Amino acid sequence: MSLEDELEAQRQRAYAQRSPQERKVRAAAVTAVANAQTAERALREGEPIPRFQLPSIEGGLVDAGLLLERGPLLISFYRGGWCPYCNIELRALQARLPEIEALGASLVAISPELPDRTLMTVESNALTFPVLFDKGNEVARQFRLTHQIDPQVVRYQLGNGNDVATYNGMDTAEVPLPAAYVVDAGGVVRYAFVDADYTRRADPDVVIRVLHDLAAGRTAPPDARPTPASGAGAGTVAMSSEQITAKVLAAVSRAKDPRVGQILSAVIRHAHDLAREIRLQPRELLAAADFLQRCGDISDEARHEFILLSDVLGLTMVVDTEAAGVTDGALETSVLGPFYRADAPWEPTGANISRGTGDGEPARIHGRVLDTSGTPVSGAVLDVWGTNGRGLYENVDQSQPDYNLRGRFRSAADGSYDLWTVKPVSYPIPDDGPVGDLLAVTGRHNMRPAHFHVIASADGYRTIVTELYTDDDPYLDSDAVFGVKPSLVIHYNHIDDGEALAAAADRSEPYWDLEYDFILTPGQASSTGFSAGRRRAV
Ligand code: BEZ
Ligand code: FE
Repeated sequence: MSLEDELEAQRQRAYAQRSPQERKVRAAAVTAVANAQTAERALREGEPIPRFQLPSIEGGLVDAGLLLERGPLLISFYRGGWCPYCNIELRALQARLPEIEALGASLVAISPELPDRTLMTVESNALTFPVLFDKGNEVARQFRLTHQIDPQVVRYQLGNGNDVATYNGMDTAEVPLPAAYVVDAGGVVRYAFVDADYTRRADPDVVIRVLHDLAAGRTAPPDARPTPASGAGAGTVAMSSEQITAKVLAAVSRAKDPRVGQILSAVIRHAHDLAREIRLQPRELLAAADFLQRCGDISDEARHEFILLSDVLGLTMVVDTEAAGVTDGALETSVLGPFYRADAPWEPTGANISRGTGDGEPARIHGRVLDTSGTPVSGAVLDVWGTNGRGLYENVDQSQPDYNLRGRFRSAADGSYDLWTVKPVSYPIPDDGPVGDLLAVTGRHNMRPAHFHVIASADGYRTIVTELYTDDDPYLDSDAVFGVKPSLVIHYNHIDDGEALAAAADRSEPYWDLEYDFILTPGQASSTGFSAGRRRAV
């Protein structure tokens, strides 16, 4: 198994063990380290390393200068034996030690963990190369690698029994970013791998290639300008893709808007890592570009294939769910979809928004709008829409009246609301474009389970864009856009006996009845949290 495979397996294990909240906190902490640009500011290719002397766990001081007199030096900075990714990396380096030494190089690992902890790391991983104790991160600081672990992450670590500050004999959980440096015999960095994401580590193959080049006498700095064709290759160290990533990140780091810089640098880091991880081939990159071009070609005012792509990849749901910040037990979010139209007619309590003929099976939806403590919310707006019984929204079906099956309702003083519409049915999302092809190649269908759309809003509460999913739908577990959440699955009762009909709704025809309370999360109402809606398509 390659190092990357082992790291990925560990990432998945860690992800599965963590609560959504912990995942969020940890992801935000990595983003914060990336934003601080610590990795970009760390010691880089072409710079001389600070000469250091550090105590080895075997006793005595290890002097970087003396090691360099023997040949190149590979330095691995690790966070500590408490970090599973560090142990995986240290074991991977141990496995390659014979190759490293055969290339005339020395390997040392450096961390701030106290000698007794270092000994545990050495023994548990059966390490035979020098592992050095960097008291207080003094050497890591000279390599510009240090940072504090986010206090919220530290709380999780303490909960797991990991007290990094104590392990290091320090007051704070300061650690180095994990890093790998290949230093030539002249003491100059020839290859540096430093990543804000502590789960990413240098590829040992790349490190060994650089050592190989050094041994072969190819000693020019890695960022040397290309030599003319006649001399190309001779005397140069091939540029690694990681070096290209570093250059691109540096190029976008000066974005005027910090948020733009943050987003772009994260996209670049992840895209470049993705390309390396899956060994993306040039023809595959071209195929992806062609796919996106087709998404653009088929899009118009009424159709947005890129949003549909985001929907079927689950990205829309991830973004909406992360942004929503709803309280447990309160109304959750789901996809907006492309069929929303703003400015639906205002309707009085009890009105029927089925304005056409033969729209479908009548349904009454009623209940209350409440806050999380059960207090009625009066004046809340429920902006609702749905398809007719053939699965068509009015803006893509000329046979329906304008704004059919759409309306805006206000909750009464006691929080109650009441409306009539038709019972939702399942329906297909468009599959005649590139997104349909993507569904087909992954063996997925293009159906959405029956649902009723709502945007619930009120002053002092978070605006929630959501859908209520009918519990007897066959596509509930395989929604093409991953919109279903358990709390949004509801049950319609069929009201068909005379007494119940007369009592409940003063009607003689059977109908479906849904009683549902919308529970709102306190917060700021959003004015533009969702698209203002597409034009009528036909
Ligand atoms: C919808 O529910 O209206 C919808 C959502 C995502 C993609 C297509 C349709
Ligand atoms: Fe829909």
